[in-house]
Amino acid sequence: MFDIKPFGGVIYGADYNPEQWPREVWREDARLMNEAGVNLVSLGIFSWALLEPRPGEYDFGWLDEVMDLLHEHGVGVNLATATASPPPWLSLKYPDSKPVTADGVRLEVGGRQLYCPSHAAFREHVRTLTRQIAVRYAAHPALRMWHVNNEYGCHIDQCYCDLCAGNFRDWLHGQYGTLEALNAAWGTAFWSQRYGDWAEIQPPRRAPTYPNPTQQLDWRRFSSDNILELYRLEVGVLREVTPEVPVTTNFLGFLPGLDYFKWAREEDVVSLDAYPDPSDAAPHLDAGMSYDLMRSLRGGQRWILMEQAPSAVNWRQHNAVKRPGLMRVLNHQALAHGASGLMFFQWRASRAGAEKYHSGMVQHVGPERSRVWREVKALGQELGSLSALTRASVQSRVAVMFDWNNWWALELDSKPAALKLMPLVRKWYAALRGLGQNVDFVHPDADLGAYDVIALPNGYLLTQGAAENLRTFVQGGGTFIAGFFSGIVDKHEHVGLGGYPGFLRDVLGLWVEEWAPLQPGETTRVRLEAGEEVQATQWAEVIHPEGAEVLATFGEDYLAGGAAVTRHAFGAGQAYYLGSDLPQPALAGLLEGALRAVNVPLCIVPEQLDLSVSTLEEGQVLHLLNVHPTAPLTVTLPAGGERLGGGDSVPGTLTLAPYAAELIRYAGVVDLAAVRVQGGEAAVASEQQKLPVSG
Ligand code: GAL
Repeated sequence: MFDIKPFGGVIYGADYNPEQWPREVWREDARLMNEAGVNLVSLGIFSWALLEPRPGEYDFGWLDEVMDLLHEHGVGVNLATATASPPPWLSLKYPDSKPVTADGVRLEVGGRQLYCPSHAAFREHVRTLTRQIAVRYAAHPALRMWHVNNEYGCHIDQCYCDLCAGNFRDWLHGQYGTLEALNAAWGTAFWSQRYGDWAEIQPPRRAPTYPNPTQQLDWRRFSSDNILELYRLEVGVLREVTPEVPVTTNFLGFLPGLDYFKWAREEDVVSLDAYPDPSDAAPHLDAGMSYDLMRSLRGGQRWILMEQAPSAVNWRQHNAVKRPGLMRVLNHQALAHGASGLMFFQWRASRAGAEKYHSGMVQHVGPERSRVWREVKALGQELGSLSALTRASVQSRVAVMFDWNNWWALELDSKPAALKLMPLVRKWYAALRGLGQNVDFVHPDADLGAYDVIALPNGYLLTQGAAENLRTFVQGGGTFIAGFFSGIVDKHEHVGLGGYPGFLRDVLGLWVEEWAPLQPGETTRVRLEAGEEVQATQWAEVIHPEGAEVLATFGEDYLAGGAAVTRHAFGAGQAYYLGSDLPQPALAGLLEGALRAVNVPLCIVPEQLDLSVSTLEEGQVLHLLNVHPTAPLTVTLPAGGERLGGGDSVPGTLTLAPYAAELIRYAGVVDLAAVRVQGGEAAVASEQQKLPVSG
């Protein structure tokens, strides 16, 4: 259970690492936290080596002092279990607790996150430290929540050591029961891979050529589950000692290694670390995608932005600062996408260590003369007027279907083409955002009933259950839009025979005879119904409609005249299929037509505008965020809006200066169709390239 009430509004704060500073700085910190409106700090994340300087010897004195000081100043604590990085003594005492790469290299002391998730003594130390901390601070009045470990899987998401090999075998035993079942699932009749004994099974370590694909896929599933076991171990202790204190661990958005749909079920509130690159033309797109995923992981529950940079990070080759105003508008974006907490890494920029050039709320220059400080302080003050948003829901009629299993499977080696999932997801997501849609991410097994439209940029791996779920959704009147190479393999990565996509043929009303993937940089012409042509990339295929209507055709080579985009009326719904990777405007046009056909309200939004709608009991809030450093926008608004917080009525036409955030409250539902945006760069959906699919 997570309750926002004890925070008294939006959560605001940072990772706090007082152990890097002398005592006299701590008092100054607490005073400045009050000045900036900080109400929560994450404490002790990397403190293991100080809290347990020698095995079994604890020193909590300094932490007691900091906890008390923060409490005196009314600052709550998101207390870490301090297990994120074991101290050097532990790694030296147990050399086999150090993780091993696929090449058999054991990693060494000097960085962080140096642990093998399977190591029994390491796990025992984790359990003991967690218990020590939980028991000691259970009744401390500053304690608000538990921060378990830190960014699991950030550096080490797979350890290939012998201990992990043993756990892998146990996990496989649990999945398959018998070796026969495993041999069948892994297709070991191929390349003489048949296993006669469980002991023969290894992780997919560096091999002469492609390791067995199902072995690799199961290894990814196991590796996520194995680290999840480690998390469970800590949470078990915390729930036993402090059942009423909420638990979280900070996620990393679309992190390849961990299946967060599984993980999120086991925390009370989702939290996220997000570091969009300020040098990107549209940093808010990647950020927004992660935000929407976080909101979706626990069925729409609001979440906490646990870490973001106040300005620059230190870990890219070239680290752009957040120019004046960008930090604020990106925080508004997090609120608009469902965050109830806005936290930074870190409170005070370090003097030493690997992250000394990472920005902090308090920069090296000190607070008074720092524009970053002025900005974070101003944001802290502004949040006072935005508390209502912590009660809002972000509702979507459109969802992008996403599954880690598909991500892993699609990007295994030895495919018709080396495809990457995330660029496709990003492209579809951007197109839907460009139609003014709040977008959820939905797991293939989830209840789809709340949505009008399900978009599947790629669903190469689709289980029988997921295909059935989609079939029921379309039959019941839903609109389903599938990208190429979807519905091809089952959960063991076995191909559905008799014409692709074996698992969706009836729904899509077609079958595919063969694929003709393009070379990198190659394009192929796709002719839209109106006669206009666009250049598609990555993929082409021979589609035989069986009931589906052809909306676009391939324009060249032996595919010329063949279907490229189709629509099939199935039950009470519609199923669209895209046999190629259309350019962004054509994709946006297709999605627009599909939404209009089922009367999903929309408006055309340029990429630089982050538009969202939040729903409160008493009406809706339209969030208009201009995430552009120089280009203003003009927005024509539906009548009847008032500024959130201020209450003053807004004019019919509003100018959004660069980096401006306007939050407009309506008594009822926001009429999206009445929103018109002028100016801005490269609107994603252009009139000329629209596919004529509406109606
Ligand atoms: C996060 C991590 C923090 C800090 C930060 C720097 O990934 O949790 O401890 O390293 O990055 O950007």
